[in-house]
Amino acid sequence: MTRDPSPRWLRWPTDESRPRFAYGADYNPEQWPREVWQEDIRLMREAGVNIVSLAIFSWARIQPAPDAWDFAWLDEAMDLLHSGGIAVDLATATASPPPWLSTLHPEILPVNERGETVWPGARQHWRPTSPVFREHALRLTTAMAERYRDHPALAAWHVSNELGCHNVYDYSDDAAGAFRDWLRARYGTVEALNAAWGTDFWSQRYGAFEQVLPPRLAASHPNPTQQLDFKRFSSDALKDYLRAERDVLRRVTPEVPVTTNFMVMGETKGMHYADWAGEIDFVSNDHYVRPGAQSRDELSFSANLTGNIAGGRPWFLMEHSTSAVNWQSVNVAKREGELARDSLLHVAHGADAVCFFQWRQSAAGAEKYHSAMVPHAGADSEVFRSVVELGARLGSLAEVVGSERKPARAAILFDWESWWASEQDSHPTELLNYRQEALDWYSAFLALGVRADVIHTGASLDSYDLVVAPILHVVPQPLAKELARFVERGGHLVTTYFSGVVDENDHAWLGGYPGALRDLLGIRIEEFAPLLPAQRVTLDDGSVGTLWTDRIAVTDGDVEVWARYEDGQLAGGPAITRRALGEGSAAYVSTRLGTEGLPALLERLLGAAGIGSELPEPARGRVELTVRSGAGNDYWFLVNRTDEPVDIAGLAGEPLAPGAGQRPGLLPPRGVAVLRREQRAD
Ligand code: GAL
Repeated sequence: MTRDPSPRWLRWPTDESRPRFAYGADYNPEQWPREVWQEDIRLMREAGVNIVSLAIFSWARIQPAPDAWDFAWLDEAMDLLHSGGIAVDLATATASPPPWLSTLHPEILPVNERGETVWPGARQHWRPTSPVFREHALRLTTAMAERYRDHPALAAWHVSNELGCHNVYDYSDDAAGAFRDWLRARYGTVEALNAAWGTDFWSQRYGAFEQVLPPRLAASHPNPTQQLDFKRFSSDALKDYLRAERDVLRRVTPEVPVTTNFMVMGETKGMHYADWAGEIDFVSNDHYVRPGAQSRDELSFSANLTGNIAGGRPWFLMEHSTSAVNWQSVNVAKREGELARDSLLHVAHGADAVCFFQWRQSAAGAEKYHSAMVPHAGADSEVFRSVVELGARLGSLAEVVGSERKPARAAILFDWESWWASEQDSHPTELLNYRQEALDWYSAFLALGVRADVIHTGASLDSYDLVVAPILHVVPQPLAKELARFVERGGHLVTTYFSGVVDENDHAWLGGYPGALRDLLGIRIEEFAPLLPAQRVTLDDGSVGTLWTDRIAVTDGDVEVWARYEDGQLAGGPAITRRALGEGSAAYVSTRLGTEGLPALLERLLGAAGIGSELPEPARGRVELTVRSGAGNDYWFLVNRTDEPVDIAGLAGEPLAPGAGQRPGLLPPRGVAVLRREQRAD
């Protein structure tokens, strides 16, 4: 990935040049009387808070009517924060349009695929492509930029908030018009669109772009390429909106960095963040854990991907939670140590800012049961004490700030287009879950104590020895060539079921699966054999597959069969294959092995690629290792994934800022240690 030679980070308001983590939260003073503001500043200082995100949902307060503006309260809040030594990541305040705007202009409201209006009453009820919304939002953006351009507290601009969180897919007439423009730009002629969409199927041939619509509720499965293009378009439409706000900010305040908070987490998949990252000065992310066995693996996976989207450079954790959220079916409180561990796990993956939603827990509104840095119980609480402790710990880890992620030897290739396309309807199975498969491989790396980067397609593969590309479903010709080159130069490629199947137009590669990767893998599949929900298949290496199987014919003499199906319809047939190619190899895994079965297979694949764990034996699987590199030093982050203490005495390095009660050489349950190690010449 090409690096911007002058990446911009926060513009800290004071002249202090000492490195420091940004630490803070979303701050919503408009929900509180003035006395509370004074207490807020005092408590922020006690906690070591040095930045807040302000005015995110303040449009209705700032502009109470089309031509009425009220900045007085915000001026006061900005001044107060500044006098308390707290910097501001100032929102453009456009995330949630006020009632007067949606009343005056109901045509800004999104429409769902059934043609139903998404009404105001919550937030983010605006069409990404509405010219009317954009006009009003940019007017507000301009007013904010002009008002606060010289305010000494201003450290960065925060465009909108979680663009696309609730409104990425809009099927309105505005969206239809913008979709057609997007298609004209992509295809040039309606003939080219017809070819790409395969419209000779079901009499869908278009005579003009005007006839094309978003994939609104249809009698049966809408055209798959239309669906895929609508996903691409919807991500692009929000990216275009992001650019529009950013351009206003850059015009008025060219010296102030601009960011927006991504949502690299869980099943949030509408926004192609790897494609958005180049639009902002630094990458910010929001992350919330979900309960479950892979909860922290998922956090790590998301943080890892975010760090790589940020090009390896430090990034900003804009939101996570001190304890429970309010929007899951059951909202579990964090246990002792988890607030710090979750925060430091993001830092381990390159975050130089640790912020929460939100500073003070709301007393009213839909988020009143969402945790915050200051809970309903007040400062006399375990949560606030943990917040203060974390602030102090970040303060003493300051030398890590500015260090970059140190690449691993192995990577997981994460491909938005494959995520989008592989989970569409009318496929061999509805049960396939792209991100889960990728996460299961990641969990297998963690179980073996081997570092792996989660990189997006388009990132350079050059530094990697082994790349796992799970469900790499969409493989255009150039990607097939790049993967072949990777293997030819000695790289080890691993891919799975439903990979290599279609091109960029979602057209099947012909001649047998896995289409674009068939020759490289040295196998050929005539027909998919997905499994019913309760079906299992045993492999002769003892592992158990679910979800998918393939009837594989080996077509190349250099292919070794690593495992065969032992039972089921395909008994005796190859299940896992590996083709050696010079120094490199290309392996295929035809079934879902999950977190149970993948570690053993991965161990074998890593062994054949000459990659081992950097951790001592007792720590493997129990401790996650990530490495950041600064001037002359590496920083080893060791995160205890378990609820038991783990002995790390065998590891060289000088411990930095141990957590409270932490003994050298021992990681407490859910604890984190950071070791400074001199960089070696190799
Ligand atoms: C985010 C959002 C915040 C808050 C938070 C609660 O999606 O940006 O404003 O709603 O979730 O978890």
